[in-house]
Amino acid sequence: MSNDKLYIKTWGCQMNEYDSSKIADIMKNKLNCKITKSSKNANILILNTCSIREKAQEKLFHQLGRWKYFKKKNPEIIIGVGGCVATQEGKKILNRAYYVDIIFGPQTFHRLPQMIYKVRKFKKYLIDISFPKIEKFQFFPMTKTDKVSAFISIIEGCNKYCTYCIVPHTRGKEISRPYKDILIEVKNLSTQGVREIHLLGQNVNSYNYVDNKRKKHYTFAKLLTLISKIENIKRIRFTTSHPINFSDELINVYNKIPKLVNFLHLPVQSGSDKILSLMKRRYNISDYVSIINRIKNVRPNIQISSDFIVGFPGETKKDFENTISLILDLDLDMSFSFIYSSRPGTPASKMKDNTNILEKKKRLYLLQDCIKQQTKKFSLKMVNTIQIILVEGISNQNNKYFGKTENNRMVFFTCKKNYIGQFIYVKIIDSYIYSLYGKFMSIYKN
Ligand code: SAH
Ligand code: SF4
Ligand code: F3S
Repeated sequence: MSNDKLYIKTWGCQMNEYDSSKIADIMKNKLNCKITKSSKNANILILNTCSIREKAQEKLFHQLGRWKYFKKKNPEIIIGVGGCVATQEGKKILNRAYYVDIIFGPQTFHRLPQMIYKVRKFKKYLIDISFPKIEKFQFFPMTKTDKVSAFISIIEGCNKYCTYCIVPHTRGKEISRPYKDILIEVKNLSTQGVREIHLLGQNVNSYNYVDNKRKKHYTFAKLLTLISKIENIKRIRFTTSHPINFSDELINVYNKIPKLVNFLHLPVQSGSDKILSLMKRRYNISDYVSIINRIKNVRPNIQISSDFIVGFPGETKKDFENTISLILDLDLDMSFSFIYSSRPGTPASKMKDNTNILEKKKRLYLLQDCIKQQTKKFSLKMVNTIQIILVEGISNQNNKYFGKTENNRMVFFTCKKNYIGQFIYVKIIDSYIYSLYGKFMSIYKN
């Protein structure tokens, strides 16, 4: 073990969380360093950033300001800034935080050990925010985990260029990870006790890996089918999928693979065709409704959640009301919602926006209230039902065991024995909108 102690702070989506866990694996493997939970103990400080909405830069410099003092006390400390703000701002970060040593992007973090070596040797900052083709995945050491549910990135970047979004600019072009590597990682996780796998990507369902040697291509549906054959993986989840890639082949997978959970996060963003067109989402409401109906044909009880942006440039009260109607008509479950945030260099940032911020906040409030009522309704309906839960652990907060239902609700319960890693039947006895309380009934054999 070296004397290096690494601290990583992560903001943003699950993909960033996944990347940070891989940064930790790579650094442990190559630098032999320890991971610490306190920044005060560390000599390598990494910030993995997100720029999806505004104030990202402010948040970054605020955090760096604190780390500046650590570096004053100990000039040997290395500070690295990665993630989407790093790609977006690049060298400009040094104008406000000259003491940063490394600026790296979501596709270059596997080069961190080398970069640290060079910074120590040449005593000069380094910037690498390039988009090398799928290189990073080859550098991932085999993951070690004690979890029973694990994330895995299957596709990087995004080609969709929705007019409001920074992701294609910060994460680069869409690249599907080789299916064989994914299967190896999933199998490896399953031998360590992982029973639920959560596939990640900005658009998992545009996954398309071309095996040039065999002249075969692997779609997302095909990948799901292959993963479902791994015996010890009993549950499969994925986020995020995009309506335009929701093929019939994928809908059919819902018919064929019971391991695929009865819950789907499929962001629609708005209930107005005009706004969807301004957003360049490439579908209209009737396309979205048709997808949901077709999925419900094969999985009548599936619950659907979504993301919404309110106050997009040009959104009228009527457009907004259409969003609320859509939630009610489609009976959507717990969803995420955000006020539109202008992102540098995106087409939407140049669109005329007449709605004032107070009105936008009011719309967000109304939307979130509507979503909350929906969530509450679904949670209440679950009281007195028997749910199958994968036991994930024991909570520090209430000393109860916890795990998730298929429809993504956290359930806390007591049971006499330790069933972590097993599926059990739990009777739901109480509902607190986002979480539920239950009672252990028996073991579920799958
Ligand atoms: N790739 C996914 C979502 C990625 S970002 C998709 O296309 O569905 C997660 C969510 O952040 C988006 O669904 C959107 O609701 C929100 N978001 C993205 N850019 C935003 C912006 N500029 N302002 C406000 N919300 C935004
Ligand atoms: Fe952003 Fe659109 Fe890509 Fe999602 S699909 S990451 S919203 S550009
Ligand atoms: Fe944020 Fe980048 Fe993820 S902008 S949401 S960290 S892809």
